[in-house]
Amino acid sequence: MNQKPLRRVSHVGVAAAVFLLGLGLSLGSNSAHAVLFAKGNAELGAKLHAKTCASCHNSMMPDGKGEELYSEDFRKVTDAGRLKTMVQFCATRTNSGWFDEELEHVARYLNDNFYKFKK
Ligand code: HEC
Repeated sequence: MNQKPLRRVSHVGVAAAVFLLGLGLSLGSNSAHAVLFAKGNAELGAKLHAKTCASCHNSMMPDGKGEELYSEDFRKVTDAGRLKTMVQFCATRTNSGWFDEELEHVARYLNDNFYKFKK
């Protein structure tokens, strides 16, 4: 096995980064007990979300703004645990191939920018 240093990830394209992150994660050990996505990186999450998630949500909203799904008017998700579950649900259904690390990035992005849950 050939474990690449994660440092290199920022120098390659997003698609490759997603792949390498997954690869790195599958080799490393990982606990899923982070509180409020502390391990997530919102910037990476924004990129992952734009690439994999936004277009379908956009197509669902009358004015094409998928982010409105996360607004208080539309959201069904009511706490951080459910947010993570929903991210996971949509990611699985989309065949994103994301590992927990990517799920955390996107959950962090969504929480920082839209949901703003404290717990
Ligand atoms: C093929 C279409 C599609 C794709 C792609 C998609 N979603 Fe969704 N998403 C939905 C639908 C439909 C709902 C609404 C489900 C409901 O309200 O019952 C939803 C709801 C959500 C919600 C909950 C919104 C709320 O608070 O009510 C989150 C969070 C979410 N998606 C995250 C994601 C993420 C992250 C991705 C990318 C991995 C993604 N979605 C990709 C269709 C999609």
